[in-house]
Amino acid sequence: MKFKRRASLRGEITVPGDKSISHRSIMLGALADGTTEVSNFLQGADCRSSISCFQKMGVTIENTGDIVRIQGKGLRGLQAPCETLDVGNSGTTTRLMAGILAAQPFTSTINGDASIQKRPMGRIMEPLSLMGADITSLNGNDCAPLCIQGTSLHGIHYDSPVASAQVKSAILLAGLFAEGETSVTEPYLSRNHTELMFEAFGVSIRREGTTATVQPAARLDAQKIIVPGDISSAAYFIVAGLITPNSCITIRNVGINPTRDGILEVCRAMGADITVEQTNVRTGEPSADITVRTSILHGTTIEGAIIPKLIDELPILAVLACFADGTTVIRDAQELKVKESNRIDIMVRYLSAMGADIEGTEDGMIIRGGRPLHGASIDSSLDHRIAMSFAIAALNAEGDTEITGAEVVNISYPEFYQDLERL
Ligand code: S3P
Repeated sequence: MKFKRRASLRGEITVPGDKSISHRSIMLGALADGTTEVSNFLQGADCRSSISCFQKMGVTIENTGDIVRIQGKGLRGLQAPCETLDVGNSGTTTRLMAGILAAQPFTSTINGDASIQKRPMGRIMEPLSLMGADITSLNGNDCAPLCIQGTSLHGIHYDSPVASAQVKSAILLAGLFAEGETSVTEPYLSRNHTELMFEAFGVSIRREGTTATVQPAARLDAQKIIVPGDISSAAYFIVAGLITPNSCITIRNVGINPTRDGILEVCRAMGADITVEQTNVRTGEPSADITVRTSILHGTTIEGAIIPKLIDELPILAVLACFADGTTVIRDAQELKVKESNRIDIMVRYLSAMGADIEGTEDGMIIRGGRPLHGASIDSSLDHRIAMSFAIAALNAEGDTEITGAEVVNISYPEFYQDLERL
């Protein structure tokens, strides 16, 4: 895909549904009694992987494009899949589903694409094994393919070394089936969509600080879920509006759960002209209309407890930092190395190729802003967030930029380029 500088971006858009909430709606819907109806479900490849995995376990899921209807099988109703559960590129499907599969009365195998086969799974294998699970990495490298021999589990308390919602959620989902209570404490609070959705489905869950505690469930009650827009998708337009000259963009109905809204705080700290008007709260998830205008920005430090609240936005925030005066330092973000690609290496490589003054560190990046960017050849590295970040950088660079593997946006935002073009 080829890009040129734009003089201005203006208009209104509605980004697609939240990826994390969409995945969870399929999983809890499948385990519930009754039919769960999900509106504004994200029709990206990752969430469709979650649908197809649960269909392979006998769950009837109808996807009309507008509404997804899941006929729940109840907590004990999943069937043994006849083939490998293919998660595609989706880390969330892999890790959360592993927590459920660990407790089923059957054996299953999970596998995915080349990127999934490099993502660390030891982080869920360890706590699930402490609960009694039997999970084997078939290549012996703590990555997928994983063979899961379902068995009975018992509750544990787990002190997680990483602030990861996927790890926390895998344990809490396993906890639904375990004997006794299960709790997880994390170093910083990660996104809490699982906990909020557990509450909605009638699961007994307690949240205190960075600890979540679940009781074994007798049943889950089917729900109607309206998924808010994904702030991680809105992030590209937030940054585009701030750095492109003569711009004003309104993004409607964006989820602003406080465990996800770190980007708003960072933009404000950098001097952004940004307004956030809350519109509603559904299933405990607040949403808002966000308006951004071209702004004069200055550098900042992004570290500590805010990192999990903006972990997926760090690639586009690195682009933002290139357009801010002074230095932006990102630290405590070593998790970036084990995302769909090594996002520290890739951002440093290609922003440098565009002329930015950026340096990678062990746990983040240092960006000295203010140098004009020029076009370059970028490889998406089959990482959706890399492709979208460089599309926004390219609109603000002198000359032509070419992104190969640009179609990878299908993972989380199939209409990304069309929406951008409309602005
Ligand atoms: C997600 C959690 C985060 C995030 C990912 C989605 C989730 O991963 O990066 O895109 O839905 O729970 P980690 O839990 O590995 O930090």
